[in-house]
Amino acid sequence: RPRVFSGIQPTADSFHLGNYLGAVRNWVAMQETSDAFYCVVDLHAITAGHDPAVLRNRTRLSVAQLLAVGLDPERCTLFVQSHVPEHAQLAWVLSCITGFGEAGRMVQFKDKSAKQGSDSASVGLFTYPILQAADILLYQADAVPVGEDQRQHLELTRDLAQRFNSRFGQTFTVPSVHIVKDTAKITDLQEPTVKMSKSASSPNGIIELLEDPARSAKKIKSAVTDTGREILYDEENKPGVSNLLTMYAALTARTIDELLEEYDGKGYGDLKKDLAEVVVDFVTPIQERTRAYLDDPGHLDKLLAIGADKARAVATATLDKAYRRVGFLPPG
Ligand code: TYM
Repeated sequence: RPRVFSGIQPTADSFHLGNYLGAVRNWVAMQETSDAFYCVVDLHAITAGHDPAVLRNRTRLSVAQLLAVGLDPERCTLFVQSHVPEHAQLAWVLSCITGFGEAGRMVQFKDKSAKQGSDSASVGLFTYPILQAADILLYQADAVPVGEDQRQHLELTRDLAQRFNSRFGQTFTVPSVHIVKDTAKITDLQEPTVKMSKSASSPNGIIELLEDPARSAKKIKSAVTDTGREILYDEENKPGVSNLLTMYAALTARTIDELLEEYDGKGYGDLKKDLAEVVVDFVTPIQERTRAYLDDPGHLDKLLAIGADKARAVATATLDKAYRRVGFLPPG
């Protein structure tokens, strides 16, 4: 079975439909076919300023949502990053083989630090992708299921793995990026050319798994659509309608072509009304299951302890190997 690793940040009170369709849905599928490790990356979540109590709460919320959408601790290893200190330890070693300019070319860093101003952006934000590389390489992952926005970070990860291997000897598996094209970039409902994102300019642009389903329905009905009246899939000229079709197809396991046939002669209003219903039916049971997990934090913590133990068994072996390779003296 191939080894799979991926991570998600606990930086919002709810995941959004982009997180789910772009990444987490694939995680659920891959736990059946792979030896899968999935991580709530709380170390990454402190790179841009945070509140401790909020972080604690969001970490539990993240785990509960992942379980609610179908991750099964019997089929995958689900854990919290800070429970496995090897992530930070390997990140240090990798940071010493990463060029300053190389890290500076990461577009997410450039975007985020431009927003915050270079004086308030943290060094952690700068080294963020190196920690991400450590996450992946610790588990010797063959594949990393992510959305399109993570492609550059995955390229850096591959470069660092290759560089380390050629400098110090074969140590890390060079991972391949697993991006499912159809859902790799779910876009904002109000601004359909930019990705749906936690930092969206308007909350009306994103569908949160845990928000009031009536609110989600309303957002879909007021989504920006395009000029013209025909329902067509055309990312360039009809990005709004195309995005709605993408979400609709993914949530109902239909193809875009089937939907186009079904909506032939119908209007945007029909499409939105039906998609709103699909979304409500999708999130309602997820919300119930999330609540049930949150009602039993003791159980959640126990699952996470088991996940951390399983993760650590792999992580310590890899870190140990990497430490020997770079020449650290083994402790006596
Ligand atoms: P994060 O927490 O921003 O997002 C989690 C996952 O959701 C995907 N995603 C999307 N996919 C499609 N359309 C969208 N609009 C959309 N928005 C988000 C992301 O691509 C991601 O797969 N740096 C990572 C977390 C991370 C990680 C890792 C991922 C840390 N270590 C190791 C993989 C492997 C991040 O911020 O994801």
